[in-house]
Amino acid sequence: MRAVIPVAGFGTRLRPHTYTIPKVLLNVAGKPILAHILDRLVAEGISAVTIVVGHMGDQVEQFVRTRYSTLDAAFIEQTEPLGLGHAIWCARHTFGDEPIFIILGDTIFDLDIAALLNAPSNAIGVKRVEDPRRFGVVEVSDGLITRLIEKPQHPPSNLAIVGIYLIRHTQCLVDCLDRLIANRVQTRGEFQLTDALQCMVERGEQLIAFPIEGWYDCGKPETLLETNRYLLDREMQTVAPPSDSIVLPPSYVAPTAILERSIVGPYATIGDGAIVRDSRIQNSIIGTSAIVTAALLNDSLVGNNAIVSGSFHQLNVGDSSQINYA
Ligand code: UTP
Repeated sequence: MRAVIPVAGFGTRLRPHTYTIPKVLLNVAGKPILAHILDRLVAEGISAVTIVVGHMGDQVEQFVRTRYSTLDAAFIEQTEPLGLGHAIWCARHTFGDEPIFIILGDTIFDLDIAALLNAPSNAIGVKRVEDPRRFGVVEVSDGLITRLIEKPQHPPSNLAIVGIYLIRHTQCLVDCLDRLIANRVQTRGEFQLTDALQCMVERGEQLIAFPIEGWYDCGKPETLLETNRYLLDREMQTVAPPSDSIVLPPSYVAPTAILERSIVGPYATIGDGAIVRDSRIQNSIIGTSAIVTAALLNDSLVGNNAIVSGSFHQLNVGDSSQINYA
């Protein structure tokens, strides 16, 4: 079984961070998003991976080749992010007829991967959501998908496609993608994987709707911080280097980070070589080698090598006064 991980998007919603680092290499709870995904796949015995890269793909390739040197990894370039369907189509020569397990590069899943991989036919991860209009949506009858629609105005159900797919009949998927691309069939300006899966249904393929509860998006600052919180809660890794500071769990402080006279956490991730002095940091991710001094940070993302320095206020406040720093 080969995993196919598309990571060729620009990650615009995470700018400015994604101007210099591909989204999948952003740190969440102590390691890059992609490392959370690859560690799970390796633990499940998946040893062949195709990564569809684009914008800053060389950084992704270097990371994977260094950290996962035993993985059979192929890197395919999608020169323009023309859609998820197009990304998978670009990778088609790396899998041929082999079944594939597609997993979005910016999403962390908590699921029984072995159960999904044992599904007897194609299977698509789905989850009930309140407002499905931003997602691909499926209609299901007796556990089988009867229709798929990308970002419908009037969703026929609230079952959203969450970005995890087991495709057993890859040749059928590739034929459908070939057809979309040859006929320039785009939805909302992109070649959609959802449209190719709908074509598979029309050709009589069985697609099981596989329920997924744990689905943690990392695509926007708020969801990246939410996922950071979830992973820190789950993994409870609160090992801090000895210092005169306090680390409130759950938090992750890299062994090479330096904390001085600070209070860090809960829900703080402090990257390798970062220095935090005279500061209070909670619910935030501080990048590798960043320097934070005299700052009060909450809900914040600080990039690698960034410098944030606040100041202590000087006040001369009379009795019964009130000062609020908003
Ligand atoms: P997203 O649309 O969520 O990611 O695609 P994005 O385009 O990088 O982010 P924004 O919208 O600009 O903020 C989900 C996943 O599919 C990949 C993305 O890299 C991401 O991992 N993708 C998307 C591709 O590889 N190619 C595409 O053409 C589109």
